Amino acid sequence: APVTALDLSKCRVADLPASAKPTNCCPPKTNKIIEFKLPPPSNILRVRPAAHLANEEYIAKFSKALQLMKSLPDDDPRSFKQQSNIHCAYCDGAYHQVGFPGTELQVHDSWIFFPFHRFYLYFFEKILGTLLDDPAFAILFWNWDSPTDPKNVDEEKQKSRNLTIMYRQVVSGGKMPRLFLGSSYCAGDDPDLGAGSLENIPHGPVHICCGDRTQPNLEDMGNFYSAGWDPIFYGHHANVDRIWTVWKTLGGKRNDFKDPDWLNSEFIFYDENVQLVSVKVKESLDHRKLVYVYQDMQIPWMPIDL
Ligand code: C2O
Repeated sequence: APVTALDLSKCRVADLPASAKPTNCCPPKTNKIIEFKLPPPSNILRVRPAAHLANEEYIAKFSKALQLMKSLPDDDPRSFKQQSNIHCAYCDGAYHQVGFPGTELQVHDSWIFFPFHRFYLYFFEKILGTLLDDPAFAILFWNWDSPTDPKNVDEEKQKSRNLTIMYRQVVSGGKMPRLFLGSSYCAGDDPDLGAGSLENIPHGPVHICCGDRTQPNLEDMGNFYSAGWDPIFYGHHANVDRIWTVWKTLGGKRNDFKDPDWLNSEFIFYDENVQLVSVKVKESLDHRKLVYVYQDMQIPWMPIDL
């Protein structure tokens, strides 16, 4: 059976690292959950640009949107505080699986990693767009898989090593859904059954790198509970999400799972209208149905004959 996370009333104190400031990362409670519906295809297409190519006007708009989000009261599910704590709630044991009260729900290290984070960004983006009153607003992606021109021999070597890693994690090491997307994770399973190749590398190391070494737990980016506090988290995950869209076009057995336990796995999020919605993995699979795309980029780690 699929994992579900629908019982908000049972959200509890997360298991934070010992030296972390106590934080309640559960979202505001409500009794009403509605089922998510895909937006009508007539919605304005949101095009997520590469952060390094976005112009000043775009960056200003993005900052304004974040400001608006930060100025909402903390108990508003659309506030930055609540949005950034979603990561903590879903990653540090605040939710237990419905029907399995002793079993933590964990959105990393398994096949729900990609769909969960896709929805997370989707609602984050829709909320920002609503606050700006701009339905075309799209978040930026951090194009970390595309190196700048090397300035010396060492950089040249590093660049080639990095591109080799990207090729390995996505193409040669991602020949099947289990390898790329992660191991199956079903109702009642203990978490952390195995991450997919991209979640392991470079997703994980990028988190650690962005964390602050002077903080006890590499806050913000280097720890689950605090990663969402840093706006770069959303740019990092947009790139992870973009690479999922690329992987599916590579052919062979590089397709999404067809297993109903995956397709029907469920999460809950507050949407841009402050309604709690339940979403299923199957609704996340085609990003175009969520009416967004990524700016087209050259993919430097892609072999020419693929
Ligand atoms: Cu939920 Cu990048 O981790």
